[in-house]
Formats: sequence, structure tokens, C-alpha cells
Amino acid sequence: MRPTRAEIDLTAIAANVGLACRLAGSKTGVMAVVKADAYGHGAVPVARAAIDAGATWIGVAIPEEAVPLRAAGITCRILVLGPIPPEHADLVATNDLDQCICDLPQAESLDRAARAQGRTLALHLKIDTGMGRVGVRPREVRRVAEKICALGSVRLAGLMTHFAEAEAEEPRFAGEQLSRFAEVTRDLTAAGIVVPLRHAANSAGLLFVPEARLDLVRPGIMLYGCHPRGLQRGPEPLLRPALRLRTAISQIKDVARGDSVSYGRTFVASRDVRVATLPVGYADGCGRLLSNRGQVLVRGHRVPIIGRVCMDMTMVDVSGLPNIRVGDEAVLIGRQGEAEITADEVAEAQGTISYEILCRIGPRVPRVYLPAVSPPTSATPELSGEEP
Ligand SMILES: Cc1ncc(COP(=O)(O)O)c(C=O)c1O
Repeated sequence: MRPTRAEIDLTAIAANVGLACRLAGSKTGVMAVVKADAYGHGAVPVARAAIDAGATWIGVAIPEEAVPLRAAGITCRILVLGPIPPEHADLVATNDLDQCICDLPQAESLDRAARAQGRTLALHLKIDTGMGRVGVRPREVRRVAEKICALGSVRLAGLMTHFAEAEAEEPRFAGEQLSRFAEVTRDLTAAGIVVPLRHAANSAGLLFVPEARLDLVRPGIMLYGCHPRGLQRGPEPLLRPALRLRTAISQIKDVARGDSVSYGRTFVASRDVRVATLPVGYADGCGRLLSNRGQVLVRGHRVPIIGRVCMDMTMVDVSGLPNIRVGDEAVLIGRQGEAEITADEVAEAQGTISYEILCRIGPRVPRVYLPAVSPPTSATPELSGEEP
């Protein structure tokens, strides 16, 4: 196996799902969002671990992402969170998926696909309460809902919305979105349309907006141990990062003062430098924006990335670290001894968010799974149901 690999700690996933379940409370279901191959962690093992830890639904972005989950024997309800083009309706029906819909034509194409297969499909009508991305505007919901209810092979199983900034320090806009959502629900009920499930909360909604824990919550990033507020979070001992990206030094060389390292010669040594080359590059998810600014852990110390990150290789300055050898471990994300580099920190250095850092870890990086181990009951943190 390549020395460059991502180690995924399924015990951490299970602990984070457990936290989501405790925050949600016994009346609210937890949908583990595993889109984009579980934010780079691997959808099938993560979905299994999440279900074992108490999640009762799975969320994906597109129907294709549900196919390997069904093939792996995952039978719980799976919601496709994004809208689909009409030609994907068959895939939704064949795999018995719940589907988010954002307009009437989508519902009609699903109705046709369901009828052709002799099934009834469950639809979740997405209401755009302020995200401004997809969904039906509140004033049109009643008309669309009535038409959906008149279709024969689909049923309106859910009403959903999505927060634009529930991670804000004062999530006031999330409150406004929730009020609009509640108003739509009331209008529909008054019109005799009762929809069994309402859901709105992503991780930030679940963590910071207790009134958003409706019938179902849809956490993603927190299940992977990253905080929706990134580095701006307060002390947050409860989320456990699940991914460690590591490699091993493939070559060590001494570079003399005045010599340069890597493409473009952006690093010129101002003194003699001991350089370690790592077999990891931007094709693996070590972003090129980390050139001359990122750090990695070697022997429990932070060392700087020097020169440009290449597609398959990255150089670090290990001067001053004694007894460095080829084969020594280098950690790009995660812990090594007492030291830690978080996905948030790597994100901040590149002007992005942990989500993108995790999703960008390339397909050629093997994922290695550390099995889920149940914690002793006494180790489970107590929660009041308020913000942790
Ligand atoms: C509709 C929907 N619900 C839930 C989530 C999960 O969000 P997060 O990863 O912020 O918890 C997403 C992710 O973007 C989403 O698009």
C-alpha cells in the first residue's frame, strides 16, 4: 500500500453520530449526510458506522451516490438532497430513494418513473426560505404541494429547507428562515395538506439553533469531527476528527545556501537546509496553495512546506530535527504525538473551509479504516441538549 493514505477512525464517526443523536433528542431522527463519498471518508463504511451508532436516515447529493450504498446492503431510507434532471428519475425509483424536489416538473418526472416501475416514491419538497439556491418560494408552496398530492405514484413525505448561515455567531437569519418555514407548514395544514416530516438543520443548525431540531436533522461536517464554525469556534472538546492524512518521507537531501527547491524556484535557501521529500501532492489533496506556507508534522514537530507543492510530491524543511530517516511518518492532517494539524487549519491557510479540504483528498489515496469501538458508558459526555 502507498505510504500516503488516509486513516479513518470509525470510532470517532460513531462518537460524533452519538453526539448528534443526543442533541437531536429521542423524537428527532438523525440523517447522516454522506454525500461526496462521505466528505472524502468513504460513503459505505461511514454510512454503516453511522447507522450502527444511531442514525436512521442517510443523505446523499445525487442518486448515483446511493447506488453503492444499496449494493452494500444499506436498507434504511436514503434521501437525495439535491434536485435531479428528469432522466435520473428511474435511478431514484430503482433504488427506492426519497427524493428532494424543487419544482413541479421534477415531481412529475418522478411520478412517471414510479408508475412505470409499479412503485410509490417519497418526495421531500424543498422550500427556499432564504438560501437562494434551489427550492420553491414560500408563496408558491401551496400550489405546488396541491399538484403533487394529485399525482398518483408519489407522496409528499417531507418538507425541507436549508440554512444559509446557521453557523453565524448570532444565527438570527436561521431564525427568520425557520419562521418562514413554520408559516408555510401552517398554511399547508390549514389547506388540509399534512406532511409527515419537516427538516431543516445541517450541523450548524443542530448545534446552534435548538428550535431547528424538527422531525429530522441532517448533519454532515460534524460527523467527521470538524466544527461548522471552523477556527472561529469556541472550545469544542466534543467533536472528534475522524481523518488522518499521513505519508512517509521518500528522500532526504541537503540543499546548500543559494540553491532552489521545486518548480518556479519560489524557494531559494538562505542557509543550508535539510530537505525531506514527501510522496504526496496536489493530486492527493495537498493543495498547491500550501506552497511555501503549509506545515506538516514530522516526529511530533511542525515543519514548513518549502517550494511549490507538485502534483505528486511535496518538500519540507526538516533542518534541526535529529535522526530523520527515509520512511519516517509525515502527517498532513491529524495528530502525531502531542501535535495536531486540523483540517480547519489547512483550510484557513488556503482561504477555504474544512469541507473542501476533506472532499479534495484524491481517489488514489487509499482509505484505511480503524474499526468502531463502543466507548464505555462512563466516557460518554453528558449533554443538556443545549449548545455544546
Ligand atoms: C441539504 C443539505 N442538508 C444537510 C447538509 C449537511 O451540511 P453540514 O455538512 O454543514 O452539516 C448539506 C450539505 O451541504 C445539504 O446540502
